[in-house]
Amino acid sequence: MSDFIEEVKKRRTFAIISHPDAGKTTLTEKFLLYGGAIQEAGMVKGKRQSKHAVSDWMEIEKQRGISVTSSVLQFNYDGFCINILDTPGHQDFSEDTYRTLMAADSAVMVIDGSKGVEDQTRKLFKVCAMRHIPIFTFINKMDREAKDPYELMEEIERELGVETCAVNWPIGCGKDFKGVYERKKEEVIRFMPVQGGKKEVDVEICDAHDESLKEKIGDLLYQQLQDDIELLDGAGAEFDLERVQRGELSPVCFGSALTNFGVEPFLKHFLDMTTSPLPRNSNIGEIDPLSEDFSAFVFKIQANMNKAHRDRMAFMRICSGKFTKGMEVFHYQGNKKIKLNQSKQIMAENREEVEEAYSGDIIGVFDPGIFSIGDTICMPKNKFAYEGIPTFAPEHFAMIRNTDTMKRKQFVKGVEQIAQEGAIQIFTELGGGMEEIIVGVVGVLQFEVLAYRLKNEYNVDIVNTPLPYQYIRWIKNKEIDLKKLNLSSDTKKVQDLKGQYLLLFSNEWGVRWANDKNPDLQLAEFSNN
Ligand code: G4P
Repeated sequence: MSDFIEEVKKRRTFAIISHPDAGKTTLTEKFLLYGGAIQEAGMVKGKRQSKHAVSDWMEIEKQRGISVTSSVLQFNYDGFCINILDTPGHQDFSEDTYRTLMAADSAVMVIDGSKGVEDQTRKLFKVCAMRHIPIFTFINKMDREAKDPYELMEEIERELGVETCAVNWPIGCGKDFKGVYERKKEEVIRFMPVQGGKKEVDVEICDAHDESLKEKIGDLLYQQLQDDIELLDGAGAEFDLERVQRGELSPVCFGSALTNFGVEPFLKHFLDMTTSPLPRNSNIGEIDPLSEDFSAFVFKIQANMNKAHRDRMAFMRICSGKFTKGMEVFHYQGNKKIKLNQSKQIMAENREEVEEAYSGDIIGVFDPGIFSIGDTICMPKNKFAYEGIPTFAPEHFAMIRNTDTMKRKQFVKGVEQIAQEGAIQIFTELGGGMEEIIVGVVGVLQFEVLAYRLKNEYNVDIVNTPLPYQYIRWIKNKEIDLKKLNLSSDTKKVQDLKGQYLLLFSNEWGVRWANDKNPDLQLAEFSNN
C-alpha cells in the first residue's frame, strides 16, 4: 500500500451530535485523552472553561464563553487518525451546526440515559439521516438513574425512525450501576466506583456466565443479566454491518463519560464499524477519496477572525488526494486557478499551520472573499463541482431595519455579505425593497451576532423586531400562481436572495392548511440550490 493510501485509509471523520448537557463535551474530552491529544480533563472548551476555548475568534464568544462556530479536533488513536467535528449546542446552535454534518462521514449520537431522545438530537439526526451516514449511539450517564434500556432503544427507534442494535448492555444504573455486558465477547466489564470523588473508575473484566459474578454484582442483577442476555437476541435488530454503514441501523453502547466508563470500548467498537473517507457525488460522478488528485468543498466560512485585517477563513473538507501548503488548485465556482495559502488545522487546543493534509481531513484556508459555502476546489487538469450543500430551514425570524437612513448602503451591503457567508438567511416581501429585511436564522444567537457584526464591521445600528413565524417552506413548482394560493391569514409569502418564493408559517397547522388546500403546491423543507 502506498503511503498516500495508508494515510487516507486511517482517517475517520465524524461529528458528535447531542442535545445540550447530554455529555458531548465530556465524551469528546475522554476521546482526546485516549488519543494523548490532551493531558487532562477540562482542556476542551466547556461552558465553564471559556479560558480554554478552542474557538475564541469573536469577542462575543469570549464574552459568553461559548463557541459560535464549529471547530475540528484531530488526534491519533490505535493507528487511526481521527477528526472530530464539533457541533455547537445551546443557543449557539446555528446553520453551521447543520453544515458541519455535511463534512462528516459518520456521527456519534450522545443520549442522556435519564432523558432519552431530546429536541436538538432529533433535529441533528434528521440531517444525518438525509445523508444516510452511519450513526453510532452512546447512551450516557448510566451512573445516574436512567430510563429502562429497552425503553430507550424503543424510543430511539420510534422517535428517530432508525433501527437499533445493542453492542453492549448496562447492568443496573445509578448507584446500582455495575457495568456493561459486551455481547460479542460475552463478557462483563465491571464498573467499580471509587470513593473520594475521583472521577475515573477502575474496571474489571469477567466472564458473563461465571458464577463468581453473582457475588460481585448481586443475585438479583446477575439473574436479570442472564434474562437480558436471552432477551436481547429478540430485542432490536440483528447486527448487520452493511446496514450500519448505510445509516439504517444504529449500534448502541452504554456508559458514563464523566467517570470514563465505557468510553474506550465504545471508541473501539466505533472505529471497528465506521468507514474511512467516503466517496462524494459531483457533476462528473462519484469522486474516489483514494484518487491522488486533490479536491475539497467549502462547508463553512468564518469571517473577521482578526478584526484588524477583516480576514475570512474558509473551512474545507478534503474529499480526495493530498493537500500541500501553497499548492496551485482550481476554484470551480470562481473559474480561476488559485494558491492555497495560510492553511490552518486545529489540533486539540492549538491552531497550527498545516504543511500537508489528506482526504478526510478538514483545513481552514485564508479567504480573500472569493469562496462561498458549497464551493469546490479541485486540480486544474480535472475540473468538476461537488453537489451543493442544502440550505436549512431557519426557525426564528425577525424584521430588521437600519436606524440611520443615511447608512442604507452599508446596511444593505453588510446584511447581504453576512447572508452570503451563510450566517443568516434574508428574505423580502414580494415586490418589497431592502429597507426592511426579514432575517431567518437557525439559532437565536445569530441575531446577536448579526447586530454585533453590523455595528463593528459596517458601523450600522439596527432595530430588530421578532416575527412570530416558525416554519418555512420553499415553493418547488415555480410556475404556480402565488395569487391563487389558498393560505391561512397568518401565512406570509416572501422571496429569497436568489428570487425563489417561500412561505412563512406561524404554526404547523398553517403548513397543513397550505398542503391540504392547494394540491398542486409542492413545498420543501430544504433548498438544494
Ligand atoms: P454537552 O457538551 O453535551 O452540553 O454536555 P457536557 O459534557 O458539558 O456535560 C453536561 C453535564 O453533564 C456536566 O455537568 C457533566 O459533568 C455531566 N456529565 C457528563 N457525562 C456524565 C456522566 O456520564 N455521568 C454524570 N453523572 N454526569 C455526566 P455540570 O454539572 O454541567 O458540570 P460539572 O460541574 O460536572 O463539570
